[in-house]
Amino acid sequence: MTDTKTGFSTRAIHAGQAPDPLTGAVNVPIYATSTYAQQEIGKNKGHEYARLTNPTRDALEESLRVLEGGTSAHCFGSGMAAITALITMLRTGDHVLCGSNVYGGVPRLFNQIVANYGIEFSYVDTADPENVRAALRANTRLVHIETPTNPLMSLTDIRAVADICHAAGVDLSVDNTFMSPYFQRPIEFGADIVMHSTTKFLNGHSDGLGGVLVCTRPEHKERFAFVQKCTGGILSPFESYLVLRGVKTLALRMRHHDANGRVVAAFLDKHAKISRVFYPGLPSHPQYDLAQRQMSGFGSLITFETGSLANANALLRRLHLCIVGESLGGVETLISHPASMTHAAIGEEGRARIGITDGMLRISVGIEDVEDLIGDLDQALLAL
Ligand SMILES: Cc1ncc(COP(=O)(O)O)c(C=O)c1O
Repeated sequence: MTDTKTGFSTRAIHAGQAPDPLTGAVNVPIYATSTYAQQEIGKNKGHEYARLTNPTRDALEESLRVLEGGTSAHCFGSGMAAITALITMLRTGDHVLCGSNVYGGVPRLFNQIVANYGIEFSYVDTADPENVRAALRANTRLVHIETPTNPLMSLTDIRAVADICHAAGVDLSVDNTFMSPYFQRPIEFGADIVMHSTTKFLNGHSDGLGGVLVCTRPEHKERFAFVQKCTGGILSPFESYLVLRGVKTLALRMRHHDANGRVVAAFLDKHAKISRVFYPGLPSHPQYDLAQRQMSGFGSLITFETGSLANANALLRRLHLCIVGESLGGVETLISHPASMTHAAIGEEGRARIGITDGMLRISVGIEDVEDLIGDLDQALLAL
């Protein structure tokens, strides 16, 4: 099937997923095998060993490649494993410029592990693309951003940053986890590599970890297939199957997440006890115009300010339906406390620098009936 002649949902259901040629099975089988029989020395059916290739993983990689509009895709055991693979593009002495307001595990990996190998990292607020231009160094090889950011929902103009990067011969990678390719396709705006934690919306059911890099150049394809082979941090056939199954309903789920997200954001925005709501779908969001240009929906991640750690905890303790926990992008509504969960690793000072307070909560609105979610939040807010 061609990449662009069909609609998004058709591609999500069919790309990489033709009926099994052997049996006609409509779903891609889970190829639970570590190795493959070879016909003679140097002759096989296209597969040698499952660290290199597995038909279930291949199908998922083709599906995600098509949905993001790239030239190759490479799946890893988690989002962090995908970022670790991304960083193998670099050599000692190289510099990476990273958004200052990304998932806390990313600077933890960069500063506490990869920096030990002589790679330099610095961080800027990429909401203003001029900050990127000013922070590029002669040895910068990669700019890595998240848009929207976690948890402050700040946006970066992908096109503007891609232009700045390319003028300097630097690659741009974009973590598209929050939007999924249904609402935002960074390659269309000039990104060189798109990264996802497939753990979130792509899988969509909170039942498996995974990560992917979707690339745009032949040398990336060669590089990341080699990294899969050498490092072995690949996605298992079972987990690949789960993501493939999730992707088939991505459009339906994202539309429902987005519709519920708008209702919950409007409810929180009007609530007297909530002093601030961070959601790109609110006209009061400082980058509302960019959100409309760059994304075709606003998603369901909302961060809000309860005023204090005590308030945040009191609210969480009263919830009956919304689940308190890390992660996002599942069918169920999850509420997390960024200061003690996703952004604990960057410390109090790091959080203060980017504006994450102890009273902030981040909600990943699921696809339950939205009136039930509002009812649960409404009664929990009585605690404040
Ligand atoms: C935006 C974003 N990127 C990357 C990651 C890391 O992904 P994983 O947990 O699959 O390793 C997360 C995890 O929460 C995330 O929210």
